Amino acid sequence: MFRKKSYGIAVIGILLVLVLMLMMFGSRLFTDIDETTQVEKENQIVVGVSQLGSESGFRTANTESVQNAFTQENGYFLIYNNARQRQENQLKAIRSFISQRVDYIIFSPVVETGWETVLQEAKEAGIPVILMDRSVDVEDESLYVTCVGSDFVEEGEKAGHWLEQELRKRGRTQEPVNIVVLTGTEGSSSQLGRTVGFDLVANKHENWNILEQKCAEFTSTRGKEVMRGFLSRYPDIDVVVSQNDDMTFGAIEAIKESGQTVGVNGDIMIISFDAVAGALEMVADGTINVDIECNPNQGEYLLQVIDMLEAGEPVEKQYYVKEDVFTMENVTREILEERSY
Ligand code: AHR
Repeated sequence: MFRKKSYGIAVIGILLVLVLMLMMFGSRLFTDIDETTQVEKENQIVVGVSQLGSESGFRTANTESVQNAFTQENGYFLIYNNARQRQENQLKAIRSFISQRVDYIIFSPVVETGWETVLQEAKEAGIPVILMDRSVDVEDESLYVTCVGSDFVEEGEKAGHWLEQELRKRGRTQEPVNIVVLTGTEGSSSQLGRTVGFDLVANKHENWNILEQKCAEFTSTRGKEVMRGFLSRYPDIDVVVSQNDDMTFGAIEAIKESGQTVGVNGDIMIISFDAVAGALEMVADGTINVDIECNPNQGEYLLQVIDMLEAGEPVEKQYYVKEDVFTMENVTREILEERSY
């Protein structure tokens, strides 16, 4: 009995010593990690990125491009946040970047309005803000340093000009042409710009009837639903303008299910935007007539802008990424194989 008791006390003693050692060594270990992270952070440029969501193939590629650019090897410490399509989440993320005193804030605004207050807060904290992909509608443009993205009005005009040429080729310059438009997130730069651009061309043609424009939120599911609605209301649709490829995929499904055909040899012409790999394949096989590229590879551009700012060089207020227009005629096998998104 006595022997057992002393054995038990010895075990408890050893355990206590082990716990004490672990506490001392462990806390030292954690301190070291914290300090290392801190030192790493101090030697790197800290960038807070608020991405608006993950609604489309474009968006996934855009996120990857940013994550591949702002790496530790390139000298950056990236704090990334996905706002899941909600402006309030973006506001929260930006405020958290400000309180963490990041070196730069990059964000892709879900809509154009409602940013003044938070941008003012960033300005007062001395943190430069760079807009990515989409822009903001603010009176005081000094609230952000620059914007790297697409010329959405030009993209819309490209779509209109393609249709002009196509109708000329088909000899359809006089007879009515019925058009429906699937629009993206209401109030976003891409929706606003593409609508304005396409309308600029459409307004020059009295025979172009825009039957309806309806928001399908840049997603495939909504694209299909909204297209079904169009098909039930309008029996004679000639052209679908779909403001991104994801909505186009859904719309094409709905059209096919209705018994109609699409594309180069079909009943309904398809004009799409983005030119992601899956859609380019459909351009190549004639399912989509034309795809207006929206280039998501903006990470490299953003790196260059920050390099310039770090070097104290002046930057322009707007940088447009390079974008193309794809039809069956110019989508080569090489382009299809090289497409990474
Ligand atoms: O702002 C760019 C648009 O946003 C893309 O065309 C669309 O796919 C995305 O969701």
